[in-house]
Amino acid sequence: MASSKVQIVEMGLRDGLQNEKVILSADQRAELALRLSRAGMNRIEIGAFVRPDKIPQMAGTAEVIQKVQQLVQQKNISAKTEFSVLVPNEKGMQSALAAGVREIAIFASATESFSQKNINCSIKESFQRFMPVLPLAKKNKIKVRAYLSVCFGCPYEGAVPEKRVVELVKRFHKLGVYEISIGDTIGVATPGQIKSLIQKLKRVVPARKIAGHFHDTRGMALVNILAAYQLGIRIFDTSIGGLGGCPYAPGASGNVATEDVLYMFEGMGVKTGINLDQLIETHKWLSGVMGKTLPSRVGNVGRLQARGPVT
Ligand code: HMG
Ligand code: MG
Repeated sequence: MASSKVQIVEMGLRDGLQNEKVILSADQRAELALRLSRAGMNRIEIGAFVRPDKIPQMAGTAEVIQKVQQLVQQKNISAKTEFSVLVPNEKGMQSALAAGVREIAIFASATESFSQKNINCSIKESFQRFMPVLPLAKKNKIKVRAYLSVCFGCPYEGAVPEKRVVELVKRFHKLGVYEISIGDTIGVATPGQIKSLIQKLKRVVPARKIAGHFHDTRGMALVNILAAYQLGIRIFDTSIGGLGGCPYAPGASGNVATEDVLYMFEGMGVKTGINLDQLIETHKWLSGVMGKTLPSRVGNVGRLQARGPVT
């Protein structure tokens, strides 16, 4: 039986910031990584090596990594914290190698239209682009994670057949990636769909290799996480404050907020290893840096506080 413990993969620095108008400096991004790590987050996606003209928010990822590496050397960030970076092709991989990251994430789409809009190529071509990336990762002992986008619905094509998602997940599995994150990129799924797809995915990939990556556009992400948890999924991608979204998914809001997910799991007695109070402090700091209120409910209102008897 799957352990009850859950792993949270923090997306704020990548999926979060990539869709925000305010562009943070490398120092601010490194400080966010430091605060997240101090709160106990040990899996953090720190940036992306993609075209800076397409995603200007991710420019400077190499500098952020360098600053974070210094913080690790100074023992301000635990050496156990794993930082990964998004890589679409060989050029991105070369940048990741030069920056000295130990983990990358490759990404593909379940529909042709989303693939074209997001990464300017077909699904088939996107897998061809991974071909030079994977041997480089193997040679340099770099872990490879994978994302599949629009698994439950596409902003351009509508409903997405489960069969296609299962085939593409199988394909990633065959490539030898260690984990596959199932993206509800535009936050359309409901628990019935989550259950149905996960049951099918578990027949082709072990549950311990599947992660849930649910955007909260329609407020369904928490119930979807619960549905996936009940089916043995133990890895979830979340974003501090609920920041972000994908620039090529019009109207899609950010990943489910890390604070809200922690609050739910804490209440259920499920361990994450992360300190919610420190994360709420980080939310306040980040809200100041971004100059706006962040979507996370728990991040904004905090825990239940006793206010004393009514007199
Ligand atoms: P392309 O234009 O097809 O690439 O871009 P190309 O090979 O034809 O090269 C064209 C130019 O781009 C060349 O420069 C390359 O050097 C340069 P030029 O010679 O013209 O000066 N180039 C690059 N520059 C920097 N880094 C690179 C790179 N590759 C080529 N890696 C590419 C293809 C994928 C790079 C581009 O379309 C791109 O950057 N797209 C942005 C993708 C992105 O970041 N999307 C958001 C993240 S995905 C997401 O949010 C979904 C996820 O969260 C899961 C979910 O929610 O579903 C993961
Ligand atoms: Mg995403």
